[in-house]
Amino acid sequence: MNNHEFLQIIQDITQQITQKTHLGDYADYATTKQELLPFLPNGQANDTAQLAQAIAHYCAHSVNTNHPQFANQLWSGQSKPAILGDILAVLTNSSSATFETAPLATVIENHIMKYLLQYYGFAGGEGLMATGGSHGNMMGMMLARANFYGDDKRRGLAGKHKAYTIINTEAHYSFDKAANILGLGTDSLLKIATNDHGQMDINAVEKLCQERNDIMMIVATAGTTVRGAFDNIAELARIAQQYKIWLHVDGAWGGAVQFSPTHRHLLAGLHWADSFCFDAHKMLGIPLICSFFMAKNRGLFDQYFTAGDGSYIFHNDEDTQERLNLGANSLLCGRRVDILKFWLDFYYYGEQGFARRIDNCLDNAQYFAQLVQNHPNLQLQSPQIINNVCFRYVAPQIGDVNEFNRQLRQSLYHHNQALFNIAQLGEELTLRLVLTSQHQTRQSCDELLAMIIAKAKEMLA
Ligand SMILES: Cc1ncc(COP(=O)(O)O)c(C=O)c1O
Repeated sequence: MNNHEFLQIIQDITQQITQKTHLGDYADYATTKQELLPFLPNGQANDTAQLAQAIAHYCAHSVNTNHPQFANQLWSGQSKPAILGDILAVLTNSSSATFETAPLATVIENHIMKYLLQYYGFAGGEGLMATGGSHGNMMGMMLARANFYGDDKRRGLAGKHKAYTIINTEAHYSFDKAANILGLGTDSLLKIATNDHGQMDINAVEKLCQERNDIMMIVATAGTTVRGAFDNIAELARIAQQYKIWLHVDGAWGGAVQFSPTHRHLLAGLHWADSFCFDAHKMLGIPLICSFFMAKNRGLFDQYFTAGDGSYIFHNDEDTQERLNLGANSLLCGRRVDILKFWLDFYYYGEQGFARRIDNCLDNAQYFAQLVQNHPNLQLQSPQIINNVCFRYVAPQIGDVNEFNRQLRQSLYHHNQALFNIAQLGEELTLRLVLTSQHQTRQSCDELLAMIIAKAKEMLA
């Protein structure tokens, strides 16, 4: 493929995606596969025209996550300067593991990491980009494990007694995965019931810490996945300090509220935590993946994350105050240059732009929650705290309310009208809306509500 053809295709993709006005083009798996058949590799080569057709097919049938009625995930509607950063990362195709191959990205990541450490109250600490909140949570659990057992890097866990983690019952499943990966076992998670606001019961946490000496870690969730609830970080920090237990804050979802002077009170006490992660690819609208992990004290990454002989790649032979080879401390070898999208977006919008972004989304969520509360057939199932709105449609003539709501959501999805998620809140199914896109407005909220009501009425007719 020559450069002219390459540039033409890039322009076509950009046009097709940015000019898309519909939400999606729903087809089931079998149909999607059937329609893709001409473009699935069979070992034979194809020409540029066929490649362009394959790409056009992909663009035409993909879900438009920039659409105002895409409210399905904790991410949507990316910001343009950040997209340029990601394009830069792909076109320069490097790995931010070493200064040699990614000199500018290394300086940028060091600078931004230092900035974020100060911004989040971890000025004396250290940080690294991760491949997501799941990765960040595992890094936190790994440091907590090391803190509890001492030097476990060389000898592993053989012969050690079991250690436990106290965690919100509505915390993210990445902790179960981390406990599995780290050899702690998923039954090492002591899942604490929540109050009406989705927060762990502090008394239950305190009682466990008083009674047991095998607690390795307390996890506070700052923004639970379904309800958007915030554990009481300050209270958990008090307990963690009293019993000398590692406190990790999972801010993958809600950690970004630090950028909003109006909403950052939700993170009060965060600076007392031992480790913290947050995803810029969620509430801040940076394209996936863009994620940060931080620890309060310096030196732990060298001590616990670095392992094996990396001398073939890491040559610390230059005099520098800052870390030269970010890969040495990382759990990865190759590191995608994810910092570029954050760099350009933050450079362009600054703190105030990020604050506006968060406040706008939270205003939309508050507005939608009010619409729900004002409607006689809608029930708000959990208090709205951040971008999540959990609600359902109810009416006396509905037999199985869970099933009705499941079908309601499915029908809007299959007719490409709106895409939001369902989740379980105890026995109740909830329609979980996440308003986290800059393409959403109060007007798009009104339109969504009208669609939901019209669909429900149609189903009941
Ligand atoms: C509270 C919470 N923590 C962690 C994660 C995992 O983040 P990631 O998808 O970046 O791995 C999620 C994902 O939705 C989440 O909601």
